[in-house]
Amino acid sequence: MSKKPLILGIESSCDETAASLITENSKGIPIVLSNIISSQVEVHKEFGGVVPELAARSHVEKIDWIVKKAIDESGRSIKEIDAVASTAGPGLVVCLSVGLSFGKAFAATINKPFIAVNHLEGHALSPKLNSKIDYPYLLLLISGGHSQYLSVKGLGKYKRLGTTIDDALGEAFDKTAKLLGIEFPGGPHIETFAKKGDPNKYDLPKPIFNKGGCNLSFAGLKTAILKISKTIKTQQEKFDLAASFQKTIEEILYKKTKVAFNEFEKLSNLKEKKFVVAGGVAANKKIRSMLMNLCKKNNYKSIFPEIELCGDNAAMIAMVGLERFKLEEFSSLDHPAKPRWALDEKATFLKGAGVKL
Ligand SMILES: Nc1ncnc2c1ncn2[C@@H]1O[C@H](COP(=O)(O)OP(=O)(O)OP(=O)(O)O)[C@@H](O)[C@H]1O
Ligand SMILES: [Mg+2]
Repeated sequence: MSKKPLILGIESSCDETAASLITENSKGIPIVLSNIISSQVEVHKEFGGVVPELAARSHVEKIDWIVKKAIDESGRSIKEIDAVASTAGPGLVVCLSVGLSFGKAFAATINKPFIAVNHLEGHALSPKLNSKIDYPYLLLLISGGHSQYLSVKGLGKYKRLGTTIDDALGEAFDKTAKLLGIEFPGGPHIETFAKKGDPNKYDLPKPIFNKGGCNLSFAGLKTAILKISKTIKTQQEKFDLAASFQKTIEEILYKKTKVAFNEFEKLSNLKEKKFVVAGGVAANKKIRSMLMNLCKKNNYKSIFPEIELCGDNAAMIAMVGLERFKLEEFSSLDHPAKPRWALDEKATFLKGAGVKL
């Protein structure tokens, strides 16, 4: 049996420093040998958001021991590594540069290929770490900086069907949490608050619900929550607002996903209909079960990453590295950090006031 590739993945696009080693078994199923993540939550907490310079400094301080730990925990040696894959964008340029430069230098030192990875493609491929998924499929990417429906024809072949025209969904969760006085990063706590509240207490707006195809908008929702949050006096009202927000998001995603199904089906002749959901917000259990039910009703197979692999991690970066390694798609050592790097680079920019849908 020929040796299976061993890929080192490195992630530093925002506030997580991460490294992972993955390989695959004889059937081509990926195996995560190590997955080390160091979060900078404590560094940024007092500022209520990520401070780029502090994030970059923290990456510089940690990157070597995180990579060393990933190699040590994998049970493999440096000599066995076949390629190094680092996130090259999108993200904060000062942060990206740390993992990118480290990865390039590491690859050059061990004389193995270097692979520059789009962080969003990492999220997109994260469910492949626990499920076999053949192309094509419909992807819903819901993360801290992005919210998009994409038709995925193959590795690197994305057609955007819809996108947020203002805030990303993760951002909407984080901003709502902040207005409810939950410490940064509060998004995941909304789910917990929501369990204790009345989802019908507040009637929140659903921007572009009946127009704009499967494009999304969350800014109006945030404004409504800002107004209501000023009137809130009790803890129970906070729970109720969180529950109403969670319910509104579920209704928006339910409706927009049905539109996306239709648009996706028009594009390709499908033997099997598959719907992949990825990104930090895919960790939300209620959103997961709502989308699973929708898929059942519409004969789609629903596929999600493991909960721990929804947020930023380096196993997903190594996963893209593994696929590109098998296709011998390597990057040059002068590959730039790309703060903006869309999955569908041909899609028109749809953001801000005055967007025509
Ligand atoms: N259980 C949850 N419910 C809702 N939102 C969640 C949950 N868990 C995490 N999130 C949100 O996911 C986001 C983080 O996801 P992710 O790490 O994919 O984003 P990012 O890397 O900051 O952005 P991007 O990947 O777009 O560059 C945060 O906004 C966080 O609030
Ligand atoms: Mg991310």
